[in-house]
Amino acid sequence: MSVHSSLGRALSLHLWGESHGAGVGVIVEGMPPGTPVDADRIQAALDRRRPGTSDLVTPRAERDAATILSGVHDGRATGAPIHACIWNADVDSSAYADRHRIPRPGHADYPASVHYRGFNDVRGGGAFSGRLTAAYVMAGAIARPLLDACGIRVGAHLVQVGPERAEGEATMEAILSCAKRPGLACAEPGARGRMERCIRDAAAEGDSVGAVIECRMDGIMAGVGEPHFGRVDALLAYAMMGIPGTKGVSFGAGFDAAAQRGSAHNDPYAWDDGRVVCGSNNAGGILGGITTGMPLVFHVAVKPTPSIACEQKTVDLVSKTAATLRMEGRHDPCIGVRAVPVVEHLAAFVLADILRGEGRV
Ligand SMILES: Cc1cc2nc3c(=O)[nH]c(=O)nc-3n(C[C@H](O)[C@H](O)[C@H](O)COP(=O)(O)O)c2cc1C
Repeated sequence: MSVHSSLGRALSLHLWGESHGAGVGVIVEGMPPGTPVDADRIQAALDRRRPGTSDLVTPRAERDAATILSGVHDGRATGAPIHACIWNADVDSSAYADRHRIPRPGHADYPASVHYRGFNDVRGGGAFSGRLTAAYVMAGAIARPLLDACGIRVGAHLVQVGPERAEGEATMEAILSCAKRPGLACAEPGARGRMERCIRDAAAEGDSVGAVIECRMDGIMAGVGEPHFGRVDALLAYAMMGIPGTKGVSFGAGFDAAAQRGSAHNDPYAWDDGRVVCGSNNAGGILGGITTGMPLVFHVAVKPTPSIACEQKTVDLVSKTAATLRMEGRHDPCIGVRAVPVVEHLAAFVLADILRGEGRV
């Protein structure tokens, strides 16, 4: 991969790695010298995304222990590129021997094989694997102290798994505390049980389910962002669509806004202790691409995991005949479960990048 695996303007991140290669890593540039880089915090973030932790995620057993190769001395950024990585240990590529010949429906095998003329690493999905999102998490954890300095908090949780939805608006406290509990991160306890059952039912049938992740950012000052391609929502959406398996991103009322009248959709302004606030937050905290000072709220929809044990129709690219495939190997029955910390940390990285670009951090 090349520039396609890079993101950012004032800060930047560059990804490398494959699912079944040596490992996965990220190089972060632009961090102000002296910024604290807390190895425990990076590890705690990675642990929330780690595989093999329950029957709701892939059984691949990885420690995902972060190694910082450069750019940090005595716990602080030196100003040089920060290079962080995890090594792959529990690799079993036996289910991938045929993937250039018999591509998985719903995965990148076929288009990637065309693009890279058959030279791409298909083992475990290669560079298309969700495993590369460990690098997003490390980058976000490295950038988060810039948000802490401004009092900005970022949290994410699941609001939908298959047809099971969480109801009501979750507070930041509820979102942050559900991230600390083991199991599925959903701020509504009633919905959590239904979501877990939904994933177990699909997995028992060799199938998978999709999900919606909500991300909330509190404490952002009004006035951050620029119009058009410098919009805060545009930059977040661009980054979120980089997460493998993402099918949609929406802000505030999102697609429901289409069914509303202006009189219901517009968030009324009011004064609160000398500060301009909105009585509702259909805008999701952004107007004209610029923050309003209200919480920034957006949703990311992820599709059902493509690699499933159900029989699927596909093709044999060598014999040019029809074929069927039941995918073996170890897979997440619901991408959304492990994508929660990915969304949260990628959002943190994007916001830190924007704030740095505006000279605010
Ligand atoms: C955290 C995470 C875990 C994932 N786990 C799997 C998995 O176990 N099996 C699989 O087939 N796809 C998994 N994916 C999704 C694939 O990487 C993705 O569907 C594939 O690259 C095709 O890209 P697209 O769905 O964006 O078109 C995962 C994605 C993420 C973000």
